[in-house]
Amino acid sequence: MPSIPTGVRGARFTGWGTALGHRLVTNDDLAATIDTNDQWIRERTGIERRHVGGTNAELSSASGAAALAMAGVDPLSVDALVLATTTPDRAVPATSSTVQARLGLRCGAFDVNAACSGFVYALVNAHGLVAMGAERVLLIGTDILSRITDWDDRNTAVLFADGSGAALLEAGPGQLLGWDLDADGTLEEILYCDHGGFIQMNGKEVFKRAVRIMVDSAQKSMKHAGVTADQVSLIVPHQANIRIVQAACDRLDIPMDRAAMCIQDTGNTSSASIPLALFRAADEGRIARGDLVLMVGFGAGMTAASAIIEWGGH
Ligand code: COA
Repeated sequence: MPSIPTGVRGARFTGWGTALGHRLVTNDDLAATIDTNDQWIRERTGIERRHVGGTNAELSSASGAAALAMAGVDPLSVDALVLATTTPDRAVPATSSTVQARLGLRCGAFDVNAACSGFVYALVNAHGLVAMGAERVLLIGTDILSRITDWDDRNTAVLFADGSGAALLEAGPGQLLGWDLDADGTLEEILYCDHGGFIQMNGKEVFKRAVRIMVDSAQKSMKHAGVTADQVSLIVPHQANIRIVQAACDRLDIPMDRAAMCIQDTGNTSSASIPLALFRAADEGRIARGDLVLMVGFGAGMTAASAIIEWGGH
């Protein structure tokens, strides 16, 4: 992957927002219908509860509207909408078109499907649009995994849920210092979902590969950015399983108290998981201007993506 050329026009987040599925589902709720229990789910995954329900356009519009309001920008001044998702409301058109209309935007809109790495893929593309002249890009990551989850399958039902996170990216002091996008299509069969079907997963295999590719991608981004692990103030990993995060952080030499986690409350929300964890940390005051934040995701495909940003731009 290339490094960022010097002199390229930069961008930084000026507003953000999040939304969760309408209905709270606890581990005990799941244990009432499938052969599982709260203790197993907490210990093996870190998940305590999750939210399900709502359409992709509903959750995307809610998080997107919050991001625009926080940034205080006129929707008509947004130059592009990029929606990372694996679960669009329709096959055609892209859900970004529906969201564009709901938010009153008048700009290009497109979906990006890179499974759970989607938000970071979209983030890198959105920075590319700014480098090409866009002033403002609305970036959203949303998934409605409850739609493609078999609620009778305990292998997957305990993991997946619905959510959305959005950020307004505005041209200005650049925040992106390094990035990496990766995929290995030969691993398609360990995690996939056919049209009209449910998620099929070889959990053990995904676990093993996930740790490896997260570490590899994070190291590439750090190298491109000229940043070492001890300089990273906060790592924002894809929220799939707390044990995957622990294993990756261990190998990266980043202590877990520097990891942004929300999996206990959200489960795995795919494209929404990194923005949900990132903006929760920001809202809790865990990130200060100038802090280096490492985002790293992995997902079906098997995709991996990471980015180092300097909070507030440099
Ligand atoms: N509730 C209770 N028991 C369960 C269970 C559940 N939901 N699922 C499996 N078990 C049981 C198994 O039957 C097995 O029992 P046994 O020892 O008597 O045979 C035991 O728990 C261990 O099962 P195993 O499959 O080895 O568990 P695990 O530690 O590998 O955890 C996952 C399973 C799915 C949580 C884990 O492999 C994982 O998170 N993989 C990655 C998945 C992922 O991240 N997917 C999305 C990628 S974006």
